[in-house]
Amino acid sequence: MSELNLIMLGPPGAGKGTQAERLVEDFELPYYATGDILRAAVRDGSELGREAKEHMDRGDLVPDELITKVIVERLDTPEAADGFVLDGFPRTRGQAQSLDEQIDRLGRRLTAALLIEVDDDEVVRRLSGRRVCAANGHLYHVDHDPPKSEGVCDEDGSALEQRDDDRPETVKHRLEVYHEQTQPLVEFYDERGMLRRFNGSRKPGEVHDHIKATLATLRLEEEL
Ligand code: AP5
Repeated sequence: MSELNLIMLGPPGAGKGTQAERLVEDFELPYYATGDILRAAVRDGSELGREAKEHMDRGDLVPDELITKVIVERLDTPEAADGFVLDGFPRTRGQAQSLDEQIDRLGRRLTAALLIEVDDDEVVRRLSGRRVCAANGHLYHVDHDPPKSEGVCDEDGSALEQRDDDRPETVKHRLEVYHEQTQPLVEFYDERGMLRRFNGSRKPGEVHDHIKATLATLRLEEEL
């Protein structure tokens, strides 16, 4: 079976984490989400976390050199040998170039950049209602995907929290940062023939079906 080396692209709140969770289960791939990695570093009080925190609280990106090394090192591990899902990386042209260089060095290639598209108003609605499980990061939405019991994770019973950067003013700034620094990567991957677009305003299950069908077609084309 061929490798699946996937990037999730899209604005904050598009559903990248929601879809990545499903793909990781479908294909048994390791999942590297830079936001989760950075939030864990902040919780642990590590040097990475201390340097990242103020950028994250403002809704700005952390500097490329802080995050790039963390990710490129993980791709060169046995765990990632058969593929990976990258969520939240790359987010700048500099990061995309570093990723390209590492993929070349490893003699591999990216399978696809999966772009989940939603408009800015929907992003604000979604992030204000998002709740995250404190123990393992399982995702909920107070209206679209509520837990069975309010404030408690269905999967592991831990408390559900609201992220600090999901306050409306920070969300607006994160959207500006996305349009300015990350959206240019849409063209970057489109020019390389790797971009696949998905309508993220459909239901999570429908978006998932569309992504799975697209990946199945890509694999078939590879085998022909
Ligand atoms: P990160 O954690 O990566 O945040 P983000 O990209 O802003 O993405 P989100 O996690 O907010 O959204 P998502 O698309 O995963 O949506 P989700 O599935 O949760 O980054 C946080 C910060 O870390 C950045 O601001 C930056 O400071 C720093 N950082 C991270 N990576 C970096 C990098 N590479 N370089 C520099 N800095 C970096 O869904 C959202 C909500 O919507 C949920 O409640 C969900 O249940 C609901 N939902 C999902 N899909 C649907 C649907 N189809 N319909 C209805 N509701 C839905």
